[in-house]
Amino acid sequence: MKKKAVFDFYEMKRRGEIITWLTCYDYPTARFEETAGVDMILVGDSLGMCVYGYASTVPVTMEQCIYHCQAVRAGAPNTFVIGDMPFMSYQKSDEDAVFNAGRFLKEAQMDAIKLEGGKRVASRIRAIVDAGIVVCGHIGLTPQSSGQLGGHKAQGRTAESARAVIEDALAVEGAGAQMLLLEAVPPEVAAFITKRLRIPVLSIGAGPQCDGQLLIVSDMIGQFQAFTPKFVKKYANVAEVITEAIKEYVKEVRSRSFPADEHCYHMVKGEEEGFQQVIKEYTRK
Ligand code: KIV
Repeated sequence: MKKKAVFDFYEMKRRGEIITWLTCYDYPTARFEETAGVDMILVGDSLGMCVYGYASTVPVTMEQCIYHCQAVRAGAPNTFVIGDMPFMSYQKSDEDAVFNAGRFLKEAQMDAIKLEGGKRVASRIRAIVDAGIVVCGHIGLTPQSSGQLGGHKAQGRTAESARAVIEDALAVEGAGAQMLLLEAVPPEVAAFITKRLRIPVLSIGAGPQCDGQLLIVSDMIGQFQAFTPKFVKKYANVAEVITEAIKEYVKEVRSRSFPADEHCYHMVKGEEEGFQQVIKEYTRK
């Protein structure tokens, strides 16, 4: 399949064709996702929870993001991949934001970056776009600032809060972002924003009327078990499959039924006699 570019996603929006998007953090999963034909991949800072077992995304560093982006790029060379800017990699200044956004492209061959926030990060988005980098905005529930939101809570559920989400969406597009992710926003609000903006608007927990859908891969394959947000649909139970496989392995090793003869490398035919000689030489007298 030909690798898509950002204007292919504009074209998909124009044609009313839905965009499929999944997070990914490692090489094998990236291969599965590319083989399955997903349109875009996000190397999310959710890797902090899904891979490292942190309680939130806040401790995730630029170095961790770059490593995981490199692994995903290796596994999905023909897919549009977006690197997620971790907490404090863009909050301090426009200069910092441009420098760190550039690292995703230079060191991990990402196609775009994503950052959280609306109005308040508009100047960061503008600066990164002016450096020639494709930006995806992310508003609604923004996990990096969930402390200020009073926890992982859906946004835009009152008229005033919906107004704030809409203003953020307009600010992100106005600053030059070429895509927008809405997280945990009512479908009515998301539908309005999707219609109102020219750029593709993607949903994670923002209903079916957006231009595309995102899920966290560890949630949808049933690997991440600490909690499951309302918007997740589980398509598999990988945790159960893996645990059962490991239990079986432990049982077979303990009962000595693994490894069997077919798992062994036997000596080359005709070498048995020579080997008996070697054994004789090394046998303690
Ligand atoms: O890091 C991530 O995977 C994200 C999603 C929660 C949208 O930003």
